[in-house]
Order: sequence, then C-alpha cells, then structure tokens
Amino acid sequence: MDGPGLPPFLLAGTEVQIHPFVPEVRLRLARDALDLWEEAQGAMNRGEMASPFWVSAWPGGLALARYLLQHPEIVSGRPVVDVATGSGVVAIAAVLAGAASVAAYDTDELAVRAARMNVRLNEVNVEVSRADVREISVPTGALVTAGDVFYDRTISAAMIQGLGALAEAGAEVLIGDPYRSYLPEDRLEPLATFDVAVDMFLESDPVKTTLVARVS
Ligand SMILES: C[S@@+](CC[C@H](N)C(=O)[O-])C[C@H]1O[C@@H](n2cnc3c(N)ncnc32)[C@H](O)[C@@H]1O
Repeated sequence: MDGPGLPPFLLAGTEVQIHPFVPEVRLRLARDALDLWEEAQGAMNRGEMASPFWVSAWPGGLALARYLLQHPEIVSGRPVVDVATGSGVVAIAAVLAGAASVAAYDTDELAVRAARMNVRLNEVNVEVSRADVREISVPTGALVTAGDVFYDRTISAAMIQGLGALAEAGAEVLIGDPYRSYLPEDRLEPLATFDVAVDMFLESDPVKTTLVARVS
C-alpha cells in the first residue's frame, strides 16, 4: 500500500520525483512545497502534526547523499546510521554506496512513515525508527550521518549534544549543511562543498553552497 498512515492530503500533495542533484534516489516529494505547507498549517497549529520537512529534500541531505555516492570507500561494508532522516535521502544513498546495514531515525512519526515509503520505493533495506538523536546508540565502527540539522537553535543544540556524544564514543559523524545560522563550524572538519539548486519557497537563494564535514 502507498504511504500507510500518512494523511490523505499529504499523499495527494506529493509525487514520486527524481531530484537532479541525486538522480540515483527516487523520493516522494511535494508537488508544490508552498501549497503543501500552507495546507498543513492548520494541523500544525493544532499540534496534530509536526512540520512536514520530509516533503522536501534539503540541500544538506542532498550534498551528503552526493558525497556518499562519490566516496563509496567511506561507506562500503560499514554500518550507517542516519539521524534526522526526513525523506530518507541520505539513508537510501548510503545503501546504494555499499553500506553493510543502514538504520535511520527521526523524531517525527510522519517522517518515519514517509522514509519507510521512500525506502520501499527504492527497493532497499533500511530500518527506520522514531527516536531522538540524543537517545540512540550505534554499532561499533558506525558511520553516522545527519543532513540539514542546524536550522533552529533548539534542534542544533540537540544535534551538537547527540552527534558529539556519538563522535566521542568512537563513531565517525558526517554532516551536510548549507551554512545555516546554528552550524557549529568550530566543531567541524570540512571535507567538501557542493552548489545545490534549491526550492525558492524554502530558501533565500536559488543555489546554496553546502558543506559536508566531519564532526571532530
Ligand atoms: C530539515 S529536515 C532534514 C531531513 C533530511 N536529513 C534531509 O536532509 O532532507 C530536519 C529533520 O530533523 C528531524 N529532527 C529534529 N530534531 C530531531 C532530533 N532531536 N532527533 C532526531 N531528528 C530530529 C526533523 O523531524 C526533520 O525531519
């Protein structure tokens, strides 16, 4: 069944797309993100659903997915854990890049269901669960990924705490981020930058220079 548990208006407002920056991955994304966020506003205001970030592929996740696909040697044969997975774009790219296993987490239940839908669409194997980055543990030797998670002060603080703890426990942690306001640049070792074309409703510029970096 397509999108079990997703509200009908979110299914109707999304369609399977191939984003030109990561054409290896198929995702169910908004036909028109502005229309869909406006339609969701009432339910969000009533606390019935979280902001539907998963209806878009964000530049941070797209750049990180591209980096993994360009560098399979970083992924190959390792367990990968993608936090704040949203649509699941990074998790799916990790499977395609040769990960031994991929687990994905998000705090938003609808994102979890949407990511599962996108996993099935790509006929890959990713275990998607609902969890906060500060609650998870990861296998030895894991590569942890997090795309576009520094857009809000509170979420950034949770990510710095959770990702920092995983890095201190021995995981390699990679992030992708278009230099958002709360990006902790002093904690990062830059690896690459990409220019990613983005949706003008969601972003201030048509192309976002996006950093891929290791959390140190
Ligand atoms: C901007 S979206 C990025 C989604 C995806 N990584 C991408 O790049 O397209 C941020 C995601 O972080 C999730 N999130 C926020 N706080 C979180 C937390 N403390 N732990 C795990 N996920 C969280 C949100 O639900 C949302 O799906």
